[in-house]
Amino acid sequence: MMEVTIERILPGGLGLAHAEGKTLMVALAAPGDRLRVRVDRVKGNVGFASIIEVLEPSPVRIAPPCPYFGSCGGCDFQQLTYEAQLSAKGEIIKDCLHRIGRIDTVPDFNITPAPNQWHYRSRAQWQYDSVRQRLGYFESVSHNVCDVSECAVLVPELQQSLETLRNEMSEGLLSDDARYFRAVVGDQGVSVASGVRGPSVSEGNSQEISRSIEGVSYRFNAESFFQANIDLLPQLIEAAIGDASGDTAIELYSGVGLFTLPLSRRFKRVIAVEENPDAASFARKNLANAGLTNVEIANADVGEWLNGEVGAPRSEKRRHAAALQIDFLLLDPPRVGAESRVIDGILQLSPKQICYVSCDPATLARDLRKIIAGGYSLDSLSAFDMFPQTHHVETIAKLTGP
Ligand SMILES: C[S@@+](CC[C@H](N)C(=O)[O-])C[C@H]1O[C@@H](n2cnc3c(N)ncnc32)[C@H](O)[C@@H]1O
Repeated sequence: MMEVTIERILPGGLGLAHAEGKTLMVALAAPGDRLRVRVDRVKGNVGFASIIEVLEPSPVRIAPPCPYFGSCGGCDFQQLTYEAQLSAKGEIIKDCLHRIGRIDTVPDFNITPAPNQWHYRSRAQWQYDSVRQRLGYFESVSHNVCDVSECAVLVPELQQSLETLRNEMSEGLLSDDARYFRAVVGDQGVSVASGVRGPSVSEGNSQEISRSIEGVSYRFNAESFFQANIDLLPQLIEAAIGDASGDTAIELYSGVGLFTLPLSRRFKRVIAVEENPDAASFARKNLANAGLTNVEIANADVGEWLNGEVGAPRSEKRRHAAALQIDFLLLDPPRVGAESRVIDGILQLSPKQICYVSCDPATLARDLRKIIAGGYSLDSLSAFDMFPQTHHVETIAKLTGP
């Protein structure tokens, strides 16, 4: 047991403290908290600790309203006022860009707050433990399922779906093979897919739904990615694309086309790359429904596509890519960021402008470092609080080529 003072919140959401010559990372802490903590595990020089007692609360500490807070691994910022959440996220972005990205002068940026700090999530994944009859989220740093009957960040339609599944669980109607359920809300209802136990987890075909954002209709299902917070999407799209226009744009990790449709209206030709076959076919459908015919969707792994391992022979692709003058390249990878070969491939394409949309400041910073070393300059940053009550934040970085 140790007594510590939390210095600040680190990327990943843990509180930083130093005591007895050790660096500690404390879960669910607030900056300025004086705490009694217990070290649960040690990795290298760092101890990972949990709070035993709050000796003196930080001025920004509040009582977490959710009864599952602390056991459920879903939210890790409920102990902070909303202003403190935003400020911690701003510091996390700066810290990553400075320390991991080696960017000396990080441009000033704003974080756009969420219009709804609660009941904002329109996409969720619930874990199912058929043996213990539990349905909810994983506990933090564990694969134990925390049984959750009410989740304060879900939109009401998803809360209703969770209750329906829970009723089915209590009536013995859920398959023992189910491992998780994914649910997503559209304008007309909810699409639910179950992940089933087998040699690998496979998903059933879930119902197709649609969502209208700024008058543009996007069709998708529970198995294809769609942003979890709808409220901030118009601002996110505007910040990512802005007044970009020209002949050719490339979009990597394009999903069902959230950015592809607006891009297709700004550029004469768009090439979009997406690995998930469901998402790629929804993107084609979304473009066709909007009457947009200038987009080529490549259903491929981005790394393979950039390295010419899919489609046309490599030599032909190289000649083709070299002949293409790319005005704008947008990438929106998953949390792991872009592989090295993806960054290398982007640098070879040499687009005039790059827009990197990221849901993890640490991998964003790692990738920006390579892009900047490749001759690009970081023009601007913007951030969006798409995930209130958690440490997650969406960041957009815009760069111009040499
Ligand atoms: C963060 S989502 C962004 C999707 C889209 N931009 C949006 O906002 O709706 C990342 C997308 O990348 C896709 N993806 C993940 N790894 C990929 C890879 N290696 N190659 C191509 N697509 C990939 C996922 O299927 C997902 O649709």
